[in-house]
Amino acid sequence: MAYTVPKLKDYSAPALDKAVQELLSALQQESKDVSSESDWKTFRDRWMARKNGVLTQVNVLWLKAAPEDAKRDVGQRVNQLKKQVEEVVEQTPEWLKGGASAARLTAEALDITLPGIRRPLGAEHPVIKTSNEMVAIFRNLGYSVEEGPEVETDYYNFESLNFPPNHPARDTQDTLFISGQESKPLRERLLLRTHTSPVQIRTMERLKPPIRIVIPGKVYRNDPPDASHSPMFHQIEGLAVDTNITLGDLKGTLDHAMKAMFGSSVKTAFRPSFFPFTEPSAEMLVSCFICGGSGRRGTEPCRPCKQTGWIEILGCGMVDPNVFEFVKDNGYDPKRVSGFAFGMGADRIALLKYGVDDLQLFFQGDVRFLEQFV
Ligand code: PHE
Repeated sequence: MAYTVPKLKDYSAPALDKAVQELLSALQQESKDVSSESDWKTFRDRWMARKNGVLTQVNVLWLKAAPEDAKRDVGQRVNQLKKQVEEVVEQTPEWLKGGASAARLTAEALDITLPGIRRPLGAEHPVIKTSNEMVAIFRNLGYSVEEGPEVETDYYNFESLNFPPNHPARDTQDTLFISGQESKPLRERLLLRTHTSPVQIRTMERLKPPIRIVIPGKVYRNDPPDASHSPMFHQIEGLAVDTNITLGDLKGTLDHAMKAMFGSSVKTAFRPSFFPFTEPSAEMLVSCFICGGSGRRGTEPCRPCKQTGWIEILGCGMVDPNVFEFVKDNGYDPKRVSGFAFGMGADRIALLKYGVDDLQLFFQGDVRFLEQFV
């Protein structure tokens, strides 16, 4: 039964106490039943509406009706009741917000028929994927993977690879130097490695021959970015050192690797070149795997091979004896051992392989581009 404000016959203190108690317990009870905003408004109006709210009734039925000598006592109690009612009414919505009211629980119930939130899986970047494929080909030949630092010393990047200080060959690798190194001796000065070749020396210092290693990694050059250049790119280096390694081993190994990578019908060709750390040096070409070596795609000229039917893919050569001199004490006596080395650009191979015409696309991180390679 809903609470109604009784008329008072007895204005004694115990009778007033009892009436107040009844009113307050009705207030508490009703406040507990509030479970939504509209409930709360009804509750507030029932207790506080000027016109016929419970407090107004209390005013009329208790205070106004009180005999003169009880007015003071009743007045004090009514004032206090007013405060208490206001407090409870005000606090009820707080409790509503924090509490697990039936309305809240209904509103937020888990709808297990909704589809889940899709978390897209990441994927290997096309350049890394290409690099890993090439590395896997050499691993299958028994090569192990080595890595080295991207911030390198002049000694490992140049000097020990037979680029003497001030030699013009250094100019072929537009180098990004770390600033503030002038007080150090030249060989200790830091730079961003321009190729993965310094890892050849680092590995030969650590491991005695024979070795067969493949070295993937990032390299840096002072090249402004455009469709075929980037100040950061990726190389895959290889080095094999043993007794009696010959140019025939180099050619056979690389020919196998290219067929494994681009298909068994590609041919390889070698053209003389120069690198300070290999002698002789060569550039290796593969027959264009896009036009099949014809230089044409239907009636169109083949752009990737510039209509020559050949694509330049890497630099290579027999390790220069001067390089072995730097690691002679670790078993690399140039009179006893020989070796070959090669280095290729993973980005360029990925461009050709996927028919992408702008290298920058690989480094802009646009998911719409990258997700095509998943
Ligand atoms: N380091 C050379 C370059 O970046 C490539 C290379 C590696 C050539 C190994 C010969 C042997 O151009």
